[in-house]
Amino acid sequence: MIAGNWKMNKTVTEARDFVTGVQGKLPAADQVETAIAAPALFLQTMLEANQDRVLRIGAETCYYEDEGAYTGEISPLALHQMGIPYVIVGHSERRRYFNETDDVINRKVQAVFRNGMTPIICCDETMGRRESGDKIHWVVNQVSAALKGISEENAAKVVIAYEPSWAIGSGTSASSDQAEEGCYLIRQTIADIYSDDLANGVRVLYGGSVKPDNIAGLMARNNVDGVLAGGSSLSEDSFIQLANYQ
Ligand code: G3P
Repeated sequence: MIAGNWKMNKTVTEARDFVTGVQGKLPAADQVETAIAAPALFLQTMLEANQDRVLRIGAETCYYEDEGAYTGEISPLALHQMGIPYVIVGHSERRRYFNETDDVINRKVQAVFRNGMTPIICCDETMGRRESGDKIHWVVNQVSAALKGISEENAAKVVIAYEPSWAIGSGTSASSDQAEEGCYLIRQTIADIYSDDLANGVRVLYGGSVKPDNIAGLMARNNVDGVLAGGSSLSEDSFIQLANYQ
């Protein structure tokens, strides 16, 4: 899975032009699944421009209630009704700037599944925790908390991204060894909670300064099933290169 996260970037016109620009240039979805998570303001325009329906168009977050008096929030029910298949949940920036706790993230995971969509759950690891040797404990805790109360049927569909925050936006990705280590740890945590078979079927992505010149080395690793790119997903050319990395 080659996914992008636009964060708070672009205009609605640029978003429409991006989707138009990648039409016919991405691999078939049954070969390499591609997705872009974009600001909610752009989603309807992107869905309408997505004529060949190859690119999956996702949301970057949503609330954990379906509707009600939650001014400014994004309804998972409304996202599903629009035809959105994926929602990023628990990105490190949501945890850091918007104080999303493990409990809130778990509620959002439940809400995304309740509304027939698939969460892309992000696990972050600060350099402090890596250097202190606490990274294992930290990632295991985040995965376990995010999947609390999630059925085997739904857990088998989940996508999880290992996104060391020390690599995000830095221009320097984790090494393929570090990416493999983090993705393996996530997969083992899922195996411990559910089963080896279920864990082996889950898609585990790496995110953090993925670029066309480093994706092949990352994707060559056994436990890296895909990437979640930020900066290099913003341009059509770069995203098309990522999607056609093989
Ligand atoms: O969610 C992916 C994002 O955090 C990675 O950003 O710019 O380091 O590729 P970037």
